[in-house]
Amino acid sequence: EQHTVLLGRGGSDTSAAYLAARLAAARCEIWTDVPGMFTANPRDIPAARLLRALDYDEAQEIASTGAKVLHPRAIAPARATQIPLEIRCTQHPELEGTLIASRPGYASAQVKAISTKGGVSLISMDTNAMWQQVGFLADIFAVFKRHGLSIDLVSTSEMNVTVSLDPSANALEPAVIDALLSDLAPLCRARRIGPCAAISLVGRNIRGILHQLGPVLELFEEQKVYLLSQAASDLNLSFVVDEEEAGRLVRRLHAHLFEGHDAPLELGPAWQDLFAAPEPHADAAAAADDRWWSRRRADLLLRAAAGTPRYVYDQATLQAHARHLTALTSLDRVLYAVKANPHPEILRLFAAEGLGFECVSPGEVERVLSINPDLAPERVLFTPNFAPRHEYADALARGVRVTLDNLHPLQAWPDLFAGREIFVRLDPGQGRGHHAYVRTAGASSKFGVEPEQLDRLAALAEQAGARIIGLHAHTGSGVRDPDNWLQTALFLIEQAARFPHVHTLDLGGGLGVPERPGQAPLDLLALDARLAEVRAAHPGFRLWMEPGRYLVAQAGVLLASCTQLKTKGDVRYVGLDAGMHTLIRPALYGAHHPIINLSRQTPRTLTAHVVGPICETGDTLGFSRRLPADTAEGDVFLLDVVGAYGAAMSSHYNLRGFAAEEILPTPPGP
Ligand code: LLP
Repeated sequence: EQHTVLLGRGGSDTSAAYLAARLAAARCEIWTDVPGMFTANPRDIPAARLLRALDYDEAQEIASTGAKVLHPRAIAPARATQIPLEIRCTQHPELEGTLIASRPGYASAQVKAISTKGGVSLISMDTNAMWQQVGFLADIFAVFKRHGLSIDLVSTSEMNVTVSLDPSANALEPAVIDALLSDLAPLCRARRIGPCAAISLVGRNIRGILHQLGPVLELFEEQKVYLLSQAASDLNLSFVVDEEEAGRLVRRLHAHLFEGHDAPLELGPAWQDLFAAPEPHADAAAAADDRWWSRRRADLLLRAAAGTPRYVYDQATLQAHARHLTALTSLDRVLYAVKANPHPEILRLFAAEGLGFECVSPGEVERVLSINPDLAPERVLFTPNFAPRHEYADALARGVRVTLDNLHPLQAWPDLFAGREIFVRLDPGQGRGHHAYVRTAGASSKFGVEPEQLDRLAALAEQAGARIIGLHAHTGSGVRDPDNWLQTALFLIEQAARFPHVHTLDLGGGLGVPERPGQAPLDLLALDARLAEVRAAHPGFRLWMEPGRYLVAQAGVLLASCTQLKTKGDVRYVGLDAGMHTLIRPALYGAHHPIINLSRQTPRTLTAHVVGPICETGDTLGFSRRLPADTAEGDVFLLDVVGAYGAAMSSHYNLRGFAAEEILPTPPGP
């Protein structure tokens, strides 16, 4: 006898799994609105990566700790019958999905996902009755049972038991909690903590990889962790923290675990790379930005034919960015931080736009002045760090302005500074920036004089006969929050109180540009407005800034040629003739640069790691990038947003030679 049954929505995955089990199906495909399970919820973290393979236990754990892709109950019937479950995306059948099976290709211990559950309440119960007591836990758990409350995580010590109540399993109305607390009162001192969020790191044998989590656990340094629980199944490690802190923490955890160059190789593409790009060929960041090069493909292909790897800088973009900054009314001077890109043509162009220059070595000073012989030396600020004595002597002799970054020069070489006007770099205490290596303030940074030493600084300057006319601070690089420079300005103004001759405040550089899809640009007008208020309140000071990246990053692209293709295990590789010797930012900081195959406009359905020719595993320019499926040897690739710290940081490692560099002139107007 046959029955027709209607399978409702919201449960159809469980029904499908049961049917597959009954039919002893070879496979059960769940076609849904997302391609699979991800390393985090892509709505919160667009950089979340597709999980290509999970075993049943991992999938079950991810489903039950927060992800909504599959109902946790759908997994048991498949596991019992060992039927592989495959999640696929209805709207994008070309995308690979998540395969859930008992033997995924790689079963090593590793964190697979971060899940978050909000709205969690903790009940913390203090007692001195528990120590060597029989039945205390049974007594208090009985109270929870009486109130129909299901406990999720538990941690116990001699004096305290803390449990979490999962909102998806309980109706956590205040009245229910109040009744619970009053029934617990005779047994212990109970209180509610919340709202909290449970953040779980999910993966097989999580105990076996605790040592790898060292840097990840450091993220909890400033964080109150109410409860830490490691599942007996060894599949998850959960932290309960204040709910409002959870988003920030998860973003940082995710960046640490899944976005850097240490990210596991077998992860699939990032959500943002799959869905953020409207055009098939353009990378999301580029498309969002309407990048200059998308209108100059033909020119670029021609340039690539002259030889790759090759950096190409767009003159119009360089000029436009210089003018964005010279248009800011709150600034008296914009100095270009030459370290970002010392290409001679760029130095000439910026001098013509009226910029000054910030140099950190005699080589930079020499190049700026020899390219621009008419430039007044006082428009150059020399800001070295731990430089030898003779570099200061030479700079002063050339008439450029000099910034001291330590007390040492005044202490050890007072004669050098007698009768001189100098700047001093201060440490504002709190570093900012896109990576720990570029945060240049605070206790762990080697830069600047700390405020506690300013009396000593003033005394040393006085003894040497030097006059401190400028104060300087730079918090770090790649900052997109305009308040950063407001805070720096206020800090410097406060410190300037003890230096009567100070008339100039250099607020540093660090102006960030969007690097990953979905990042908002720095709001320059907001920056200008904040600094204008500072000026109005403190008209005695001139304000300077010294950006590098902002002026050049988006003007530059790197052209490279595809050398070889390879598949190893599950992982595809696309090789380029550019590598970490040409562009070290991905290897050094885990930086993200959009990578586009300029030669092909076909749909990007190949997921591959883009690597260079250098003999190091770190020589990867991009992980799991979406590329045209017909990518082939000889194709011209473009790496975007590389005008800053690209060529400037390249090396001759492996004796591979430097990339060519050139400026793409603005075509004559109509
Ligand atoms: N001023 C001082 C004192 C600096 O130390 C720096 C950068 C700047 C200005 C310019 O910062 P910018 O505006 O370019 O962010 N190689 C790293 C960046 C290192 C920045 C070092 N100092 C990167 O590729 O991101």
